[in-house]
Amino acid sequence: MSVDVVIVGCGGHGREIVGIVRAVNEVTPVQRHWRLRGFVDDRPAESNLKQVQRLDVEYLGPVSWLRDAPAGTHVVLGVGDPRVRRDLGDRVDAYRLPGAVLVHPAATLGVGNTVGDGVVVFAGARVTTNVRLGRHVHLNQNCTVGHDSVLADYVSVNPLAAVSGNCVLEPGVLIGTTAAVLQGLRVGAGSVVGAGACVVRDVPAGLVVKGVPAR
Ligand SMILES: CC(C)(COP(=O)(O)OP(=O)(O)OC[C@H]1O[C@@H](n2cnc3c(N)ncnc32)[C@H](O)[C@@H]1OP(=O)(O)O)[C@@H](O)C(=O)NCCC(=O)NCCS
Repeated sequence: MSVDVVIVGCGGHGREIVGIVRAVNEVTPVQRHWRLRGFVDDRPAESNLKQVQRLDVEYLGPVSWLRDAPAGTHVVLGVGDPRVRRDLGDRVDAYRLPGAVLVHPAATLGVGNTVGDGVVVFAGARVTTNVRLGRHVHLNQNCTVGHDSVLADYVSVNPLAAVSGNCVLEPGVLIGTTAAVLQGLRVGAGSVVGAGACVVRDVPAGLVVKGVPAR
């Protein structure tokens, strides 16, 4: 029996997830297919609604649509920015719907990892071993996460970024595209590592760091 899934947020990031759902279905027995019910979004831009239509996916209504969603409906948060995703997640949690874990078949999740509710792994991402991914972590295209790292809830790792082994990324951290975090470092809650940065020492919570070395 297929399982219903709803994407919350129909901006670009949310619409990218449509491709992941379809790619997963292509390699999954039909009984375990995701049935993409559609998008919910409180203020969808006209341009996004047009793109949703082009993808042949339904716009269901505002986020509150989830209140009466059929039992067993899963949700995935379709927002890249960790702060916005966390706010959305707090709202959606009130509806007590499970999060869909979506791992693109062209990504590799190694052995001995733990994966939280609502995790999304885009094509080309690589996770090695003994990595903990918290709830609603998003690993974007072609990023890498090394052994024994912990990525807490709502962390985002953007395309081509490299998180080395034994790192700790606290809740809501954003690692910008092509950035590197060297081994064993901790990035504090809510901090943002700019695109292209190289993190060479721990980053306290709530900071924006950029450059090489990141400051
Ligand atoms: C670092 C970052 C968070 C800063 O955002 P911001 O505070 O809004 O920064 P601004 O755009 O106002 O720029 C402020 C200054 O930082 C510089 N700057 C911005 N991003 C930078 C980066 N990644 N590396 C180095 N310098 C950067 C700007 O040139 C500007 O310099 P100036 O004051 O000398 O003119 C943001 O630029 C960034 O890199 N975000 C990650 C984006 C990403 O990963 N996108 C991929 C999405 S899939």
